[in-house]
Amino acid sequence: MVNKIKTCVFISGKGSNLLSLIKSSREYNFPIKINLIISNNIKAKGLNLAKKYNIPYRFISSKNQKNFERNCLYEIKKRKIRFLCLAGFMKILSNKFISDFGYKIINIHPSLLPKYKGLNTHSRVLKHKERYSGCTVHFVDAKLDSGRIILQKKVSIDKRETKNSLKQKILLQEHKLYPQSIISIFK
Ligand code: GRF
Repeated sequence: MVNKIKTCVFISGKGSNLLSLIKSSREYNFPIKINLIISNNIKAKGLNLAKKYNIPYRFISSKNQKNFERNCLYEIKKRKIRFLCLAGFMKILSNKFISDFGYKIINIHPSLLPKYKGLNTHSRVLKHKERYSGCTVHFVDAKLDSGRIILQKKVSIDKRETKNSLKQKILLQEHKLYPQSIISIFK
């Protein structure tokens, strides 16, 4: 595909979803190209992927939200980025940032939204003895894990499920669901 959509990925941690997006974006017909990776955590393992795959990256501190968003917008506009994917990014973006950016922003969350927004999803799911959980890709608005849902994948919870086994089970699905969602947005 010649005209891939210029994309930035925001991360805070390990970056396993980032890796799945990098791999997909290297396929000829995948609609996006990752032109920039931004982490608000200097120790994020995901930054090593940026180095490994030769993708421009920036660490931008989010201690001060206004400065963080201003610096991000500067880097994003400079590169004519038209799409933003949040992948394990642990901050809520302001309405101002979302409207100043002006293009689509999507996020992945490890639950069947609107259930279990926020942190510690898997332990809360297990505590409530749910029989199913899953993951959701959704558009981002200024409320936590709240924008319009793009795609979801359901997984069943075993009797002996632990927080860790559930996390791994759902992550496997996340790595497929995120690229599928991007394809579905731009088809
Ligand atoms: C994923 O479970 C994602 O849904 C959530 O944070 C986790 C990030 O994992 N938002 P990784 O950094 O992509 O490995």
